[in-house]
Amino acid sequence: MNWNAVAGRFTPPARLAVIGDPIAHSRSPQMHNPALKACGIDAQYIRVQMPVGHVVEGFRQFAKCGFLGVNITIPHKFEALDAVDVLDSLARQLGAVNTLAIREGKLHGYNSDGPGFLRSVKEAFGVEVKDLRVLILGAGGGAGRAVAVQCALEQCPKLVLANRTALKAESLAAEVAKLSPRSTLKVIAWTDEAVAAEMAGIDLVVNATSLGMKSGDAELLPAEALEARHLVFDMVYRADGETPLLAAAKLAGAKVVDGLTLLLHQGAISFEHWFDRPAPLEVMREGLRNAVMT
Ligand SMILES: NC(=O)c1ccc[n+]([C@@H]2O[C@H](COP(=O)([O-])OP(=O)(O)OC[C@H]3O[C@@H](n4cnc5c(N)ncnc54)[C@H](OP(=O)(O)O)[C@@H]3O)[C@@H](O)[C@H]2O)c1
Repeated sequence: MNWNAVAGRFTPPARLAVIGDPIAHSRSPQMHNPALKACGIDAQYIRVQMPVGHVVEGFRQFAKCGFLGVNITIPHKFEALDAVDVLDSLARQLGAVNTLAIREGKLHGYNSDGPGFLRSVKEAFGVEVKDLRVLILGAGGGAGRAVAVQCALEQCPKLVLANRTALKAESLAAEVAKLSPRSTLKVIAWTDEAVAAEMAGIDLVVNATSLGMKSGDAELLPAEALEARHLVFDMVYRADGETPLLAAAKLAGAKVVDGLTLLLHQGAISFEHWFDRPAPLEVMREGLRNAVMT
């Protein structure tokens, strides 16, 4: 690829990007470009499709072309861990890098998914994660791991983990136990019965799987297990409406938050890493809202 040509053919010039495979669906440019404009920053945020195995070289090329930063999405968040020069300690603990900041040619790796999750919960529900008993469905993938570790770092009173591949939840639990020795920590089998039995002792349910992205995906939990007092966080977002989990939660009278809110807050934290200033949150929220409606 002729990287300089790619960066230079935009007005304003491309200085920020999101990489992934696939990447065409990403709403990050519609969120970041209005923010850059509102802050008078002469730079453009673009999508770059990047195959697995190219992250190290890609980061070097971004640096050469004068990029300031990059967001990293599926499937590159783990590869990015080893591709940076300086790894932030939270990113190390969360086990993934989703934000690269390039400063004087050095590659700094951060994770804004975990802190973005905390901000989303606070904004949507008016409570702190540290006060909640949390059930994570999908505690085995990258997002589930980031949320579980972040909950443990917050010293949540109770953390219950379930994953299709149980072994992954068990190895995550072993790590999380070391971070939060006073929390009640459980790994449960992901069956309707086991999940329903736990729900009485849970405040916040998190979907960290990719289930719900497509119509016809399996149900995450029996709808009858949801109560009005539950808080339900679906990390998934869909362009064509709400996910089945959030629809079921609303029917039960529960409070909900979706993946777009997380996308907003993790994006705002990335912006803060790049520019060392508060992000224009409402401009970014509006950009995302418009992107979803188009
Ligand atoms: N809104 C945001 O800003 C944001 C940020 C991060 C992630 N996310 C979303 O979170 C989701 C997960 O992302 P990720 O990075 O963690 O992906 P990942 O590393 O590929 O993990 C996928 C997770 O989903 C589970 N899963 C996949 N198919 C399943 C099925 N049919 N039944 C049960 N479990 C299934 C996997 O279980 P196994 O371990 O058994 O394979 C694993 O726990 C994606 O939808 C992503 O878009 C959103």
